[in-house]
Amino acid sequence: MEVALVYNVKKDESSAVESGGHPSKKTESQHTALLPQAAGVDEYAEWDTIETIHAVRDALSLHHSVTMIEADEEAFEKLKQLRPQIVFNITEGKFGASREAQIPAMLEMLNIPYTGSDPLTLALCLDKSRAKEILAYNNVPTAKFVVVDSIDELNFDAVPLPAMVKPLYEGSSKGIFNSSLVHTKEELAKQVQHVLSEYRQSALIEEFLSGREFTVAMLGNGSDVRVLPIVEIKFDSLPENVNPIYSFEAKWFWDQPDNPLNIFECPAKISNELQSEIERICKKTYKVLRCRDWSRIDVRLDKEGKPNIIEINPLPGILPNPEDNSCFPKAARSAGLNYQEMLNSVLNSAIKRYGIQ
Ligand SMILES: Nc1ncnc2c1ncn2[C@@H]1O[C@H](COP(=O)(O)OP(=O)(O)OP(=O)(O)O)[C@@H](O)[C@H]1O
Ligand SMILES: [Mg+2]
Repeated sequence: MEVALVYNVKKDESSAVESGGHPSKKTESQHTALLPQAAGVDEYAEWDTIETIHAVRDALSLHHSVTMIEADEEAFEKLKQLRPQIVFNITEGKFGASREAQIPAMLEMLNIPYTGSDPLTLALCLDKSRAKEILAYNNVPTAKFVVVDSIDELNFDAVPLPAMVKPLYEGSSKGIFNSSLVHTKEELAKQVQHVLSEYRQSALIEEFLSGREFTVAMLGNGSDVRVLPIVEIKFDSLPENVNPIYSFEAKWFWDQPDNPLNIFECPAKISNELQSEIERICKKTYKVLRCRDWSRIDVRLDKEGKPNIIEINPLPGILPNPEDNSCFPKAARSAGLNYQEMLNSVLNSAIKRYGIQ
């Protein structure tokens, strides 16, 4: 088929994509020091590197003819002219809480099929409070929370401490630092202020789920949905004296290709009972949020050991190199799917859903 791969490439790398340039390396290497919450340190964290974009292109090219389209301001015209039979969408967008929905909305307008969730689901999942409201209505367990739009609104008793303070609509751990877990009212106020001023968006304050953490890769649609082997995030691999959260520092600084953190265990070592319960709530989450083709769902146990949904990623991270820690490809490998098979399975789910070919 004629497939267009639509992507956002990390800043300063777009010219190299077209010319087949080399992948960028992470330049910082801070394995033990805590990072300051520097403004802009995580600005392009959600976007893909050249290496990932080329790996996706190469995987799809095994079976299809692939054209690359950068999701910039010319994307609509390029898509309109090219009219691919289907788009493989990995665009994260740049502006606003609906940024992941923008390319899919253009594709709906052009009546071009595409992989993954529709604009409504993408926008709902990016706004963590909206997603949690839908989960709560459907009796899917998720931590107590409150949204604060300005510091004057902060009610110290709304959520018990310790709590997590997060930007309302970010991903890739943008705005989630070691300091996002707060134990005192002072820390809470400081962290809320930080989110409001640095990220210029509301802060989500959530009850801290103190138990083990898992992430669950989902593939397919309807009765064909597959829950891939569950990945556990092992916090004992983090530097000493840091909080047990999968923070920006843990994802991008303490974990380096030349000194990787041994942070994932897949399949997770859990009882059959816990596995069934995690699978049940993830399937229900996927259904009630109307996810399509693929998603990765983050789960954490509360102090009673009961699984709760943290958040849903309808556009999961897909680093191609098995040495880089990337949950979806790791779960796929554990299920016997290599990187190429995993991506083609996503595409085939979309092709089947549209009934095309
Ligand atoms: N309520 C909570 N209780 C305990 N830990 C939490 C909670 N919320 C977030 N965390 C921790 O912070 C991490 C990042 O939070 P979250 O998954 O919401 O952010 P994200 O940036 O959207 O993540 P991703 O990189 O998966 O897109 C989680 O993996 C978890 O370790
Ligand atoms: Mg997450």
